[in-house]
Amino acid sequence: MGKKLLLANDHIPGIQSYQVYRQHGGYASVEKALKTMKPEEVLEEVKKSGLRGRGGAGFPTGMKWSFLAKPEGVPRYLVCNADESEPGTFKDRYLMSRIPHILVEGMITSSYALGAHTSYIYIRGEYYYVAQILEKAISEAYANGWLGKNIQGSGYDLDLYVQVGGGAYICGEETALLESLEGKRGNPRIKPPFPAIAGLYGCPTVVNNVETISAVVPIVNGGGDAYAAIGVGKSTGTKLISASGHINKPGVYEIEMGITVEDFIYSDEYCGGIINGKKLKAVVAGGSSVPVLPADLIITTAAGEKRLMTYESLADGGFATGTMLGSGGFIVMDEDTSIVENLHTFARFYHHESCGQCSPCREGTGWMEKIIHKILDGHGTLEDVDLLWEIQKKIEGNTICPLGDAAAWPVASAIRHFRAEFEEYVKNSSQIKKIRHYDLINH
Ligand SMILES: Cc1cc2nc3c(=O)[nH]c(=O)nc-3n(C[C@H](O)[C@H](O)[C@H](O)COP(=O)(O)O)c2cc1C
Repeated sequence: MGKKLLLANDHIPGIQSYQVYRQHGGYASVEKALKTMKPEEVLEEVKKSGLRGRGGAGFPTGMKWSFLAKPEGVPRYLVCNADESEPGTFKDRYLMSRIPHILVEGMITSSYALGAHTSYIYIRGEYYYVAQILEKAISEAYANGWLGKNIQGSGYDLDLYVQVGGGAYICGEETALLESLEGKRGNPRIKPPFPAIAGLYGCPTVVNNVETISAVVPIVNGGGDAYAAIGVGKSTGTKLISASGHINKPGVYEIEMGITVEDFIYSDEYCGGIINGKKLKAVVAGGSSVPVLPADLIITTAAGEKRLMTYESLADGGFATGTMLGSGGFIVMDEDTSIVENLHTFARFYHHESCGQCSPCREGTGWMEKIIHKILDGHGTLEDVDLLWEIQKKIEGNTICPLGDAAAWPVASAIRHFRAEFEEYVKNSSQIKKIRHYDLINH
């Protein structure tokens, strides 16, 4: 069994409540930090741990924290990104709804390290019931002296608020999130300045994912070195993976970084293999934005090494033969899955969620959706496949925020690895038209 740091107490009845959480060592990291450590010492442990942002980009958390500007007389903010809208990703919902106090505890310890006295959890609107769970945990924390003025007699003050978002994927992008938190339309800001210099209300701000902030709890409790001892190379500690698709045991798993992808898919400790003993066709390893890989390339790198569940191993080979760990939204597809149909679902999503600020993304996502639909519907040509390739290339890297890239990469990788499948739809177009017509008149 792999080591668990975030979900270790997941099985304990009542762990959602303050009393049970506290009985099982809850709030020890706040006690330790406030009573025995200076804020810089907490930051040092986070740096030593090698923790990297769990929201998708994998940026080193200690480094991000050390960029936070500290001008005199200006407030600093910690904002938790609980927007979790990436298709295939549901680990933050699981963690917040099962063990809400670990996030509240992580927010207090992290806010102390950053010198923040007001912090926010921005949660997607569709998670309304989770927001209520968090509100309850926060009021329990206030009632027991972990929030508010002079926390546990330490002289440190912190207020923590939950803000429910308006239900847009773009509000997960950190600067759009800050706009939305300020009460404006969630359009991404041009960077620089980065939030560490001018974030919420123009003040220095750190934005971190739910899992990142929660991981600060075991890091402070056990020390950064102990956390860094788990994992491989620059992928340290544990990672929550949302596993879905054609697997026997979908769910949220906490893995030690560095287990093999093969083990994750086939072992009974995790996904338990493919449903009905079918063959594996493809995997989207890190949420809908990351490149899809065919079975052979997800199990083994192009260099013939076993692929590991780490940032580096999943990216091995670049986008030609590799992918990304992303937010850990692991979607498994069996041999009967149509890559083109799946891509259409993703393309529809990105078209719907584009904020419309940048024309390559606003127009390009719509074009891509329409062309994929045309191919699926039996009206596609080989030129359409080439056009699709050209459009995604023109979006990538040409937008204010990475939503454009996120829309382009699934298309690029589907064509790169499964072009034959697109061509099959084009060649069999008259047959598809007949089937679609039959479907239409029978439903
Ligand atoms: C379109 C888009 C959506 C995003 N959605 C989320 C999200 O739901 N949750 C999240 O933590 N990060 C999301 N991110 C990444 C954030 O911009 C940011 O990098 C992250 O919150 C930083 O936290 P971390 O360093 O702890 O990973 C998104 C990025 C983009 C471009």
